[in-house]
Amino acid sequence: MKNKKDLRIGLVGTGFMGRTHTNGYKRVSDFFPDLGYHPVLKAVCSRNKDKVQAFADQWGYESIETDWKALVARNDIDAIDICTPNDSHAEIAIAVAKAGKMVLCEKPLARNVAEAKQMADAIEKAKVKNTVWYNYRRLPAVTLAKQIVASGKLGKIYHYRANFLQDWTINAELPQGGAGLWRMDSDVAGSGVTGDLLAHCIDTAMWLNGAITDVSAVTETFVKERMHALTGKVQKVGIDDACIFHCHFENGSLGLFESTRYARGHKALYTFEINGANASIRWDLHDLNRLEYFDHRDESIVRGWRSVHVTDGDQPYMDKWWVPGLGIGYEHSFVHQVADFLKSLETGETCAPTFKDAYETQKVCEAVIDSANTKSWKDTGVEWKL
Ligand SMILES: NC(=O)c1ccc[n+]([C@@H]2O[C@H](COP(=O)([O-])OP(=O)(O)OC[C@H]3O[C@@H](n4cnc5c(N)ncnc54)[C@H](O)[C@@H]3O)[C@@H](O)[C@H]2O)c1
Repeated sequence: MKNKKDLRIGLVGTGFMGRTHTNGYKRVSDFFPDLGYHPVLKAVCSRNKDKVQAFADQWGYESIETDWKALVARNDIDAIDICTPNDSHAEIAIAVAKAGKMVLCEKPLARNVAEAKQMADAIEKAKVKNTVWYNYRRLPAVTLAKQIVASGKLGKIYHYRANFLQDWTINAELPQGGAGLWRMDSDVAGSGVTGDLLAHCIDTAMWLNGAITDVSAVTETFVKERMHALTGKVQKVGIDDACIFHCHFENGSLGLFESTRYARGHKALYTFEINGANASIRWDLHDLNRLEYFDHRDESIVRGWRSVHVTDGDQPYMDKWWVPGLGIGYEHSFVHQVADFLKSLETGETCAPTFKDAYETQKVCEAVIDSANTKSWKDTGVEWKL
């Protein structure tokens, strides 16, 4: 193995994302051997000592902390990775920036624009390396979509359409709040499907198609009251269970977005489609190694949707994995983001999406919620360069 510099990781939160990120740190040097940095699993933090020790033992962290402030204060940590629920992102990230450490933060960046702005400002002031885990950008088929759009093959773009559909909250007896159900509690999550799911769609959309300038939205909370797991009381539900919005992009195209946790039969159906004057592309998370492509300039007798299996060595990231024809999975998007972050330490470039980018996405999320609440169009104020 090439002589590498250590990047000493301190990870906060041992749930779903704690596992995907740790897997990324563990795999990256095996599959990206040419990187100049190697992540070292220095410490992991979660509030319950027994649970965090069990996580450290299982995944190979050298040490544990039960208070993230102690983790931030340690001088043997270079980068803090925030994998906690949304209500703690701002406080932790701002403290990390002030401590002069690198910060990697889960999405959505924050619960609202005010928090996101403070975070982006703190990062800008401290000038620390940062990235936000909008990981879908780094699935090879989605990265290929970016290359195709950037090449101009689609021609003038008219439509951008995205869905993110789930069905796990239909049961009216499901409580809100507490471990595992914090997404149902607006005080912790900030919003419902808008911040949790549409934030992904918005990040991908602006990355592919530029700024969303204004939005008109409708949201619904189908189950209005639920028992709160922490208080034991039946309380008003503050999150949006479903959200549909349409919008203008700066390039003149129209966008249509839908997300819900009430689409029976759908577990994580993230799809997008882009229609240009010459060609269209579409993608589906449930078939994530494929990108569908239609080109009107093909000879008419064979013209039709091509289903491109994105597994060849000349397609994004795929030279690092197996042989053509063999696919990879969801978890690889995190390995790729770790690899790109490590690469950015060598090149001095940013590793997008940065806190600044995620702040712009937060503006769209907030404009969507504002629009639904006021039943009016809202400008997003987004500043985004393709
Ligand atoms: N990029 C993605 O595709 C994706 C997917 C899922 C979740 N997320 C985001 O990741 C974050 C975490 O989500 P999750 O699904 O992993 O949640 P989770 O509930 O599975 O895990 C959260 C972890 O944070 C810990 N925690 C909570 N508060 C803490 C504190 N103050 N100090 C230390 N530890 C604390 C909990 O004990 C738990 O281990 C959220 O912001 C979520 O939106 C992103």
